[in-house]
Amino acid sequence: MANERRRAAHISGWGRYVPTGVLTNEDLSRMVDTSEEWILQRTGILERRVAGSGETTGSMSLRAAQAALDVAQVDPRKVELIIVATVTPDYPFPSTACLVQDALGARNAGAFDLSAGCSGFVYGLNVAAGLIEAGQYDNALVIGAETLSRITDWTDRNTCVLFGDGAGALVLQANGARGGVLSSVLRADGSGGDLLKLPAGGSVQPASSESVDQRQHYIHMDGRQVFRFATRVLPEATRQVVELAGLEVEDIALYIPHQANGRIIESAVKALGIPPERVFTNLARYGNTSSASVPIALAEAIDEGRVQRGDLVVVAAFGAGLAWAATAIEWSLPLPVPKQPRRRILWRRMLYHLARVQSWRRRLCRRVGAWLRRLVEGEDA
Ligand code: ACO
Repeated sequence: MANERRRAAHISGWGRYVPTGVLTNEDLSRMVDTSEEWILQRTGILERRVAGSGETTGSMSLRAAQAALDVAQVDPRKVELIIVATVTPDYPFPSTACLVQDALGARNAGAFDLSAGCSGFVYGLNVAAGLIEAGQYDNALVIGAETLSRITDWTDRNTCVLFGDGAGALVLQANGARGGVLSSVLRADGSGGDLLKLPAGGSVQPASSESVDQRQHYIHMDGRQVFRFATRVLPEATRQVVELAGLEVEDIALYIPHQANGRIIESAVKALGIPPERVFTNLARYGNTSSASVPIALAEAIDEGRVQRGDLVVVAAFGAGLAWAATAIEWSLPLPVPKQPRRRILWRRMLYHLARVQSWRRRLCRRVGAWLRRLVEGEDA
């Protein structure tokens, strides 16, 4: 019994997608009363990506998910759970996760969206890992994706300089090997909900011409208060999650904090005493992509060779809710992953085309079925 291996969730695939449209600080300085210097100095951001007219949270999720499944070499039909962490879903319902499930042809998967502000992805990672550890699933896909440009008030200099669009995804698989997701911390303080919110569009203030005129469908934020909260909880959650794993902060080989503001990251890293070379940041290029920030950063860090087998990787995030979370992972996959035969990639591409055809066929069958029923009922009447 003592030698029994712990069933854990291991990361076996990762992917990211960012739109090609770039919005620089210089562009912003022509749109609102700000300057390139102010944005860079106060946030650490140089530019951000903005989704094109045909792009959505769902379409970006799909691209990131396909890339992650390619790395993991997992057939979409084997995926049993899809979580999309987002505050900018394609629709309030159906969930973006269901749209992704359909587009992937993941016909054996359950799918749902998760809303926990910028910490949504780390929450999702914890949920999926817990379900894998409990033995309910073997293969899960966790995605963090945002189209924040659609809820950004481009006349508000306090917020519009901060945010960007993109998506990142991880494939988690059950394994009895050493490592994987070691521990997680999830926390919330709803008393701070007013500090960062989208006031309209929910049951409190449904959409109306008044709510649109009053610009209530955009992000409203008390930046100073969020800043204070973030610099407190980021080091706190990081310490807690490492302690839960039975390790020390000094053991962290790679720290990936939520990419919100360079000064928040600096403050947390200083408080924790983590050397800068062990911290990954890509904030300058993407800005704050909310739920997508941690998975995009993790995917980039892995691709840049910043992770080795046996490394302790800690991800931590904070955001609207207020909610915050951290996860400690012992990296277990030998890197780089061997290149897979081209025919396998082509096979998966073919499965995605097939999924589109099957989705279309099911929609058509439903329509024809409804039409036939109406026809028969009409004849009966
Ligand atoms: N350009 C020029 N001046 C500006 C700009 C701008 N883009 N934005 C604000 N200012 C001004 C303010 O109006 C203020 O002027 P005042 O003193 O005359 O009132 C002055 O700059 C200082 O404002 P502060 O709010 O104190 O600026 P600060 O240095 O705190 O930086 C910032 C503001 C960048 C928003 C910072 O507070 C921050 O990053 N907060 C955290 C935000 C965050 O991380 N959110 C994450 C969660 S997002 C999610 O969950 C979706």
